[in-house]
Amino acid sequence: MARLDGRIALVTGATGWIGRAVAAGLAREGATVVVVGRSVARAQAVMADIRTDVPGADLEPLACDLSLQSSIRSAVDQFRSRHGRLDVLVNAAGVFRKERHETAEGLELTFATNVMSYYLVTGLLLDDLRKEASAALPSRVINIASKYGNVRIPFDDLQTATGKYSFLRSTPPTMLGRVLLTQEFAARLRGTGVVVNAVHPGLVKNTGLLQDVGGPFRWITNTLGKSAEKAADTPLWLATSPETAGLTGKLWAGRKELPTPGMGSDPEARRRLWDACAGLAGNDFR
Ligand SMILES: NC(=O)c1ccc[n+]([C@@H]2O[C@H](COP(=O)([O-])OP(=O)(O)OC[C@H]3O[C@@H](n4cnc5c(N)ncnc54)[C@H](OP(=O)(O)O)[C@@H]3O)[C@@H](O)[C@H]2O)c1
Repeated sequence: MARLDGRIALVTGATGWIGRAVAAGLAREGATVVVVGRSVARAQAVMADIRTDVPGADLEPLACDLSLQSSIRSAVDQFRSRHGRLDVLVNAAGVFRKERHETAEGLELTFATNVMSYYLVTGLLLDDLRKEASAALPSRVINIASKYGNVRIPFDDLQTATGKYSFLRSTPPTMLGRVLLTQEFAARLRGTGVVVNAVHPGLVKNTGLLQDVGGPFRWITNTLGKSAEKAADTPLWLATSPETAGLTGKLWAGRKELPTPGMGSDPEARRRLWDACAGLAGNDFR
């Protein structure tokens, strides 16, 4: 790992299992880390926790409801009023919900949080990421995603609005969606010094993610899963290592590139998801 002294990092989902471990790792390397939580109090509780592991960690809270575009826009404005640039962005917020929920802005909650927040947070911060980025010292975006198997994106029903809702129907396509957004951001940012990669963390023990679902899924994850610190290794490697500075647009696990089969290699799917997100956000980022 290379030291990040003087560098600014922002981590969404930093109050969760993987995000917290990544935020702690970035702080350990000397970065100023903006800890995004649903409330300042929630972020501050995690900051206190991180400081027990990393004494003197330079951390700042930022409140944001990542399921709401209005909240993301206001959080990005707050970030920008405090910092003139961004060097590392880690998108790690996510939900796994047993029942279908709609946000106050009318989007299905899983899609809004798992896909739209990745699109909008990254897109709105592009100028900040580009500001001091160069091939020698790139700004780096890391999207926590997942392997997605044979899953396809249901382009005619992105909001899981028809048929019977189930988390097994709504959530896996959002992991593929993160991979497609990673590829599209990487392609659009080629040559700017900003690199964008996705990580499959594997099953992670004690995750808050399965609290709502519970049952056998939770038992299996807690029995077979790895620690959050282990899951944070590849994101931290992508965020800090000189050897990953030129890598972009790929999916990684255990510091190795993973294939992106099926729709994950379909440029038409990439474009369609991008266009759908751009339409819902009213912003087409480049
Ligand atoms: N754990 C796994 O096995 C696994 C496997 C593959 C992929 N992933 C992905 O890895 C990421 C992190 O997972 P994890 O295990 O660390 O889960 P986690 O412990 O549940 O953390 C999820 C984080 O997202 C935050 N979040 C969710 N909705 C939000 C909202 N509307 N506004 C603000 N923050 C919100 C949560 O905040 P609150 O605590 O306030 O809800 C929490 O900080 C997720 O995106 C997940 O999809 C995880």
